Amino acid sequence: MFLSSITLRQFRNHRDLRLEIDPKLNLLIGPNGSGKTNIIEAIAVLTTGFSPRGASPDHLIEWGENGFYISGVFGRDEEKASELTLEMKFVDGQRQIKQGGQTSVRLRNLIGMVPLVSFFPEDLSIVKGDPDGRRRALNLVLMQIDPLYAENLRRFTETLRSRNAALKQLAEGRISEDALDPWDEELLKYGLPICEKRNQFLKEFTGIFSQIQSGISNGSDSSRLEYKPSLPGPWDGGNHDRLLRHLRLTRQKDVIIGTTMAGPHRDDISFFLNDKSARIFGSEGQMRTCAVAFKLGEVEIIRRMKGTEPICLLDDVLSELDEGRARRLLEELTKTGQCFVTMTGLESWPQDNRPKAAIFCVSSEGKVEPAKDNKSVKFVAPF
Ligand SMILES: Nc1ncnc2c1ncn2[C@@H]1O[C@H](COP(=O)(O)OP(=O)(O)OP(=O)(O)O)[C@@H](O)[C@H]1O
Ligand SMILES: [Mg+2]
Repeated sequence: MFLSSITLRQFRNHRDLRLEIDPKLNLLIGPNGSGKTNIIEAIAVLTTGFSPRGASPDHLIEWGENGFYISGVFGRDEEKASELTLEMKFVDGQRQIKQGGQTSVRLRNLIGMVPLVSFFPEDLSIVKGDPDGRRRALNLVLMQIDPLYAENLRRFTETLRSRNAALKQLAEGRISEDALDPWDEELLKYGLPICEKRNQFLKEFTGIFSQIQSGISNGSDSSRLEYKPSLPGPWDGGNHDRLLRHLRLTRQKDVIIGTTMAGPHRDDISFFLNDKSARIFGSEGQMRTCAVAFKLGEVEIIRRMKGTEPICLLDDVLSELDEGRARRLLEELTKTGQCFVTMTGLESWPQDNRPKAAIFCVSSEGKVEPAKDNKSVKFVAPF
């Protein structure tokens, strides 16, 4: 799937912007603070409901206004007949999503409609950063390929919030300990399918990741991913009672700390390079290569599971990579689907065999113009 046009109103610094977009590679070039990231952030918000920068919807509204609006027309196989129009309006704290101009879409059903892989500079630290970032990356890809996973995750998050509130009440002596029993049951009901799915997924994904990683490093490193669950597996129904006892055993600790210590919200993924922890022993470049391989692996798994190319967003990532890695990333991403790349200038754009791209110049006032024929890059008019 690809985005063929987008309209932004009162979204961050874009008061009223409409862009016709190329189905392949689009470059957004402009000075710092001009609003390049804001444009690709809007694409992510429209297709997933979340800002990849972690911003709340309120922060996306143009300062001084009370709402924002984004709409996008998505094409499939260049056929007009199968176009999908999505609109998202967020006004006075209320979000409304529409498909085809009328049908309401619930936020939870939005994710996965238009597959997306985004790559922001923060993602380069997926290996050495907190487990939180790794779980978020895993959730985002699994939510897109498995609606049941998304539903279990939503219910699990609600249950966790309730259980943590109950732990505080128990610590204050306002409820008795057995009031936690139903929350433990719910935690396993929604949590175990999450663990099972993560386990299955990572078993398949590690092969894809390892192959890509080996390609980027010219076969000099072997790599793999390993699921590090917080609740010891297996996670099938037959182990329900054992895991319930596990939760009971850690309950006293939970009450003292005031939060649930065991569950999929504490899971992690380990990256291994040549059988050693990449986080502990990997060089900066090796860790970044793993991050790139993880993202390219997301593209591949979405392609396999959804039978369609995801839209890729690349925010200022090329300048953070050496030329070889930047080239390899671009080559992979531009092979098939649609890709958006933001950059302040063309310095970090590969020097030889430059891929064809539609270029948009973003001015310091946030105005966006398709570039005039640019001699340094093969330019394809976006419309
Ligand atoms: N809610 C908002 N309302 C209006 N303007 C905003 C809002 N949030 C951020 N901005 C403005 O948007 C600009 C940042 O835009 P953005 O992050 O897209 O820049 P950029 O072109 O990606 O810059 P860089 O090259 O530095 O990454 C800032 O100048 C900021 O003042
Ligand atoms: Mg930016």
